[in-house]
Amino acid sequence: MSDTVRVQWFPGHMAKTRRLIQESLPLIDGVVEIVDARIPVSSRNPELDHWLGEKPRIILLNKADIADESATRRWIAFYAKQNILALPVDCKTGKGLNGFTDKVNQLLGETLEKFKAKGMVGRTLRLMVVGIPNVGKSSFINRMAGGNKAKVADKPGVTRGNQWFSIGKGIELMDTAGVLWPKFDDATVGERLAFTGAVKDVVTDTELLAVRLLDIVGLNYADRLEERYKMTVPKGIDGYDLLQLIGKKRGMLISGGEIDTERASVMVLDEYRGGKWGRITLEFPEGEA
Ligand code: G4P
Repeated sequence: MSDTVRVQWFPGHMAKTRRLIQESLPLIDGVVEIVDARIPVSSRNPELDHWLGEKPRIILLNKADIADESATRRWIAFYAKQNILALPVDCKTGKGLNGFTDKVNQLLGETLEKFKAKGMVGRTLRLMVVGIPNVGKSSFINRMAGGNKAKVADKPGVTRGNQWFSIGKGIELMDTAGVLWPKFDDATVGERLAFTGAVKDVVTDTELLAVRLLDIVGLNYADRLEERYKMTVPKGIDGYDLLQLIGKKRGMLISGGEIDTERASVMVLDEYRGGKWGRITLEFPEGEA
C-alpha cells in the first residue's frame, strides 16, 4: 500500500463483485468496459480479464475531452494491435457516442449471424457495462438511454440488483450491481487515481502526491507548465524542484523566505484536476512513463 493513498476496502467486496459479474455472464453477449482515457491502466481492475473469459468486449476511453488527443490515438492503436475495439468518448457531452452502435455491431457480428441462422429475428444484443467508481458508467448509460432511462424488466434468473436499459437499435445495457474496485494495493495505481481525483478523502500526503504528479507532467508536458506558470522548466528537473519553482513563481512563501510547498501542492493538485493545465494524459501505452 502506498504512503500516499490509503483506501479502506475489503477483499470480500471484490469476491462479491466477481460473483455478481460471473452470474450475469450467461445472459449477456458482450461487455462495455469504461476506463479513464487519462489513466487507462490504473482506472481498471485487471482481474476483470480473468472473470470475463472470452466475452467480446469494447473499451470506452471516457473523459477523452480532458485527455491528450495524441495519447488517446496511441491508446486506440495499442488496443487495435491486440484486436480490442476501443472508442474515445466524452460521456459528459455525448461526443463520440454516435459511433457506439456501429462498434457494437462490429464486435458482435458473429453473434448477430447466429441469431439470424437460428431464426431469432429481433433478439436484442445485451451488453454489460463495467468500470471502477467515478469512471463515468452512469453518465454513459444516461446518455445512451436518454432522459427517461428506458428501463427494461430484469431477465429471469438474473442476479437481483442488475438494471437493464434499452438504448434502441436492438441493444440493451446492463448496469452491474457490484462495485468494481480499482487495484488499490498497487501504489502507482493508487497515486494515479488520486491525481485525477477518482479516489477522494484518502490522501495522507498531499505534498508527495503533487511531487509525483509533477514528475510525470514535467517529463511529458513541460510546455503546459511553462505556459501556465510563465516560467522555464529546466530539462530533467524532478517533481520536487518543480514544485519549488511553481511555489516561488506564485509567491507562496513562509517566514524566512522559504517556499510554502504545502500550499503549492494543494494548488498544483487543484489546478490539474480543474483542467487548468489543459488536456493531459498520465499513462501511455507499452510501459512508457
Ligand atoms: P460512475 O457512474 O462510474 O460512478 O461515474 P459518473 O457517471 O457518476 O461520473 C463521475 C464523474 O465524472 C461525474 O462528475 C461526471 O460528470 C464525470 N464524467 C463522466 N464522464 C465524463 C467525461 O466524458 N468527461 C468529463 N470531463 N467528465 C465526465 P462529478 O463531478 O462527480 O459530477 P458532475 O459535477 O458532473 O455532476
